[in-house]
Amino acid sequence: MIMRKRNGILISIILISCFSLLQNCKHDVTVTHAANDPDSLYTGRPYVAPAIPSVRYTYRAIVSPANNPMTYEGIQLGRMLFYDSTLSLTKKVSCGGCHRQQYAFGDNQKLSQNVLGSTVRNTPGLINMGMNPKFFWDGRQSSIEDAVNDAFNHEMHPDFTADVAYLNSTPQYAYLFKKAFGRPGDITEDKIVKAISQFIRILNSTNSRIDQYYRGEIQLTTAESAGLDSFFSATGGDCFHCHFDAIYLTFAIQNPAFTFSNNAIDSVADVSQFMDKGRGAIDGDTMNYGLFKIPTLRNVAVSGPYMHDGRYATLEQVIGHYSDSLKHSPNVSPGMQHLAQGGLHIDAAGKANLLAFLNALTDTSFIKNPAFSNPFH
Ligand code: HEC
Ligand code: HEC
Repeated sequence: MIMRKRNGILISIILISCFSLLQNCKHDVTVTHAANDPDSLYTGRPYVAPAIPSVRYTYRAIVSPANNPMTYEGIQLGRMLFYDSTLSLTKKVSCGGCHRQQYAFGDNQKLSQNVLGSTVRNTPGLINMGMNPKFFWDGRQSSIEDAVNDAFNHEMHPDFTADVAYLNSTPQYAYLFKKAFGRPGDITEDKIVKAISQFIRILNSTNSRIDQYYRGEIQLTTAESAGLDSFFSATGGDCFHCHFDAIYLTFAIQNPAFTFSNNAIDSVADVSQFMDKGRGAIDGDTMNYGLFKIPTLRNVAVSGPYMHDGRYATLEQVIGHYSDSLKHSPNVSPGMQHLAQGGLHIDAAGKANLLAFLNALTDTSFIKNPAFSNPFH
């Protein structure tokens, strides 16, 4: 009896959404899914992130702030808002338009197009954000909620009055807001940001070949294995001073004290000459001019172009930089231990091995997960 009633409600929501919101119902988001799938539409169900099996390493737990606990409805709502360009000033720009799933939620452009023109920096992937202590290339925000609010306002310039009217008049949105945030279900800017944050918190990638290898599930190829050794060797690629978090396997330093560094991509005599002052522009410390957040290397093979300004189109160019073209400036991080020689001068086979390792960080189940895809397509 209870099931019947629930199905009845579900069917009417699906119908309403077909007519009013979704132009195309071929891949409707509101279909029921198995338990523990974020797409489920069971009323007010708290979402508990699935445990990630760990053998050699553990992954950082994704913890929601007390004022924004996750529910299936909140995640579903956040997913729709993430892909809805109606919320932007021009009605043409959505989070998902720049943060594209096939590119691990980065963009394949050097710079992306926002409502005013080009973005200032390259669009980073959104991967394991819940494990990050700081957000944006300059780390100007410290929580997902604040980062979403910042991104929303800077890239989309939303007119919240118009957005709230639109969301209130769209039955599926009105329904989901009520379920996600309870009665009276009023739609506010704060709730829009909270719902999108819930969706961002489930964008977790823990199933690359390297993860599988660490869990003891697969063997690496000879090249991948040699690349991994080189990555962690001071006389090999020497990447681990910056791109590693041994306990949490994020391939980016997650300790807030070491989140930023300068990886010798710019040659400047005086720190005031850095084109983009990065971290230093946020904290005013000239020692931090030209320092940027050390990005995760998960899914890096699909998330190019690379660096905060998208200057390198390919991973070969990135490896070439670290191997042969390190540039001097007063703020180069001590982690760049071969600066004096201009790099490690890795031979062709060594470069190919590093590339194989970076490719093995691709998590196909992440970039193809239907629960993360555009629900309007
Ligand atoms: C026009 C393209 C564009 C749109 C639209 C956009 N972003 Fe971004 N996003 C970027 C760029 C570029 C950055 C990096 C900016 C910087 O570091 O200064 C970024 C950074 C972020 C970050 C920080 C990632 C990190 O690694 O620290 C988050 C989180 C984020 N965006 C979420 C969102 C959400 C949520 C929306 C929708 C409300 C959104 N973005 C809309 C381009 C975009
Ligand atoms: C001194 C610290 C440091 C070392 C050592 C280091 N990196 Fe980086 N890496 C960074 C920082 C910081 C950035 C971002 C710089 C920017 O955007 O200006 C970065 C960016 C990258 C990127 C681009 C990621 C993206 O999403 O744009 C790749 C790929 C990369 N590094 C690979 C490597 C490899 C491979 C090695 C070893 C050969 C290595 N790094 C060594 C600090 C370092």
